[in-house]
Amino acid sequence: MTHTITLIPGDGIGPEVTEAVVRILAASGVSIDWDRHDAGVLAVEKGRVPLPIELLDSIRRNKVALKGPVTTPIGTGFTSVNVGLRKALDLFANLRPVTNLPGITSRYTGIDMVIVRENTEDLYAGLEHQVVPGVVESLKIITEKASTRIARFAFEFAQANGRKKVTSIHKANIMKLSDGLFIESARAVARDFPDIAYEEKIVDAACMHLVMRPEQFDVLVMPNLYGDIVSDLCAGLVGGLGVVGAANLGADVGVFEAVHGSAPDIAGKNFANPTALLLSALLMLRHIGEGEAADRITAALHQVLEKGQSRTRDLGGTTSTFEFADAVCRAIA
Ligand code: NAI
Repeated sequence: MTHTITLIPGDGIGPEVTEAVVRILAASGVSIDWDRHDAGVLAVEKGRVPLPIELLDSIRRNKVALKGPVTTPIGTGFTSVNVGLRKALDLFANLRPVTNLPGITSRYTGIDMVIVRENTEDLYAGLEHQVVPGVVESLKIITEKASTRIARFAFEFAQANGRKKVTSIHKANIMKLSDGLFIESARAVARDFPDIAYEEKIVDAACMHLVMRPEQFDVLVMPNLYGDIVSDLCAGLVGGLGVVGAANLGADVGVFEAVHGSAPDIAGKNFANPTALLLSALLMLRHIGEGEAADRITAALHQVLEKGQSRTRDLGGTTSTFEFADAVCRAIA
C-alpha cells in the first residue's frame, strides 16, 4: 500500500533533516507518496501567505504530515506558522517522548517520560495589545474544555501504554483562576483513572525535580507555554534537541515534527542531527500502521548510535547529516 503524506520541509535545517529522513523511510521499504509544500518564509518568497491554504487542504486530505521546523520572526513579522497550523487543524495534543538512547551519553540514565503539552491555547492564543504606550497586555487563555481534553488524552495515553503515573504541571499558586482551572480539570479526569497515580507539581519546583531526579517522572501534562519550556529542558536531559521527536495530534489528523526549531546557527551546513525528526517519523509510521517498518528503523538507529562511529556534531562527532542518514539506511535489515 502507498501512503500519501504531506511533507513540509520547512526552512533553516528543515530541508536537510527532512531529506535525510525521507531517505531512511525509503530504505525501509515503506511506500510513501510525498505531497510537498512550502511554509513560512519560503512560501512568502514565492508570493504566498506563510501558511498557504493548499498546505492546510493537503493535510486535511491526507490526515498525516511530516514537518520540518519553520522559522518565526522575533518581535515583528508574521505570526508563527507552527502555532497557526496547530490551531487551524485543532492539533490539540503535543506528544513528546523523552528517553535515553543507546550510545548517547547524557548526565542521566533511566529516563523514560512522555510530555503531553496542550497545543491550542494559553499565552499562545497570541492575543496581545498595547493598552497605552509603555504598557502591553498578553492574554493567557485557559478553558475547561481544552484542559479536560488534554488531561483525558494524557490519561488515555498512559493507560494504553502501560504507564503508571500522570504529573500535572502548573502555577496555580499565582494564576489561581487560569492554572487553577487547568488542575481542577485534570483532577476531575484523574478520578476516572483510579489505576493511574496522579500528582501535581508547581512548574518551578518541577524543573528542579526534573534535573535532580528525572527518572521519577512518567507522563507529564501541562499547558502550552510550560510545555514548550519543559520540553527543551527535558531534551537536554537525554542529549539535546537533536534526539527528541514529537507528534501534534488532533481528532483525526497528525502532524509529526521534532521539538527543535530551524537552528539558523547550523542551517545549510549538513551538521544537523536528523535523529529528532526521524524519531517523529517513527511515531508517524506507527500512527499509519507501519509498526513493523518502525521497529526495523528503530533497531537500525540504535545499532548506529550504539556503535558510536557515526555521530553528528551535537553529540560530539564529525558525521554529517547525510552520512548519518546513510549509516542508518545501511543498517536497516
Ligand atoms: P532551535 O531549536 O532551532 O536551536 C536551539 C539550539 O539547538 C541551536 O544551537 C541549534 O543549533 C541546536 N539544534 C536544534 N536542532 C538541532 C539538530 N537537529 N541537530 C543539532 N543541533 C540542533 O531553537 P531557536 O534557535 O530558539 O529557534 C530558531 C527558530 O526556530 C526560531 O525562529 C523559532 O521560532 C523556530 N522554532 C520552530 C519550531 C517549529 O517549527 N516547530 C520549534 C521551535 C522553534
